Amino acid sequence: MRKILIALAFALFSGQGMTAGGGGDVMSADADVTDTASLQNGAKLFVNYCMGCHSMKYMRYSRLADDLEIPESVVEEQLIFSPTKKIGDTMTNAMPMEMSEKWFGAAPPDLSLTARVRGADWVYTYLNTFYRDEERGLGVNNLTLANASMPHVLARLQGVPEPVLEEVHSGGQSKLAVVSVDTPEGSGTLTEDEYHELTRDITNFMVYAAEPVQAERERLGVYVLLFLIVLTFILYLLKREYWKDVH
Ligand code: HEC
Repeated sequence: MRKILIALAFALFSGQGMTAGGGGDVMSADADVTDTASLQNGAKLFVNYCMGCHSMKYMRYSRLADDLEIPESVVEEQLIFSPTKKIGDTMTNAMPMEMSEKWFGAAPPDLSLTARVRGADWVYTYLNTFYRDEERGLGVNNLTLANASMPHVLARLQGVPEPVLEEVHSGGQSKLAVVSVDTPEGSGTLTEDEYHELTRDITNFMVYAAEPVQAERERLGVYVLLFLIVLTFILYLLKREYWKDVH
């Protein structure tokens, strides 16, 4: 019985942290899909700042309304910008792939599953590691995804971080490389903490969207474990009752 319980507990909780992360210094997103306020804010930010380019083709507005406890009328008014989209539609955007590919060199990928594929911390770190790089057409580069062809769309809020260069040695050679980024205070409209909070909310929303049943599954898992514990206790009492006369 104990083995089964341990196996069950393992199966329930091992889903966490199994997603692949990038190399280097990855920041911790502290994602929490039970934090509804954060998810609501993340959804709002996502449709405003990301959906001009990215879609979420596995996510429906109606599901989002349900899960995130946002009234459907509010979703229709504040989150659906396209006149052709309705509450039952998926979150696909209007920009045709070919056009965006021509503009940015790479097509903005669908972000439905990105938080699962890359990991929440990777996404969070990515949004926090844009830096000024005049050699790039967009004027920015990204430490997490080298030569990313995505503009720093949150630059007005964060400001544009400066690269921090350091001599690194590899294969007997040393060269200057960007090792971290540094945002001068006051270069954006948000403080560093506020920007961390904002990108955490976006990341959190992406984590939720990548697996909408996750919060429900975890809630259910706790009940299942509690039930098993109570059941074990009852069975133990029953066993004692049965064996009383044998001993
Ligand atoms: C102006 C268009 C545009 C906007 C707006 C935009 N992106 Fe991107 N994004 C791109 C492009 C293009 C790429 C592909 C980069 C590459 O692979 O070089 C990309 C890549 C990404 C990736 C990496 C995906 C992967 O697995 O490689 C993430 C994560 C991402 N974007 C998140 C966001 C978020 C979050 C927002 C909103 C805050 C956003 N993007 C807004 C154009 C955009």
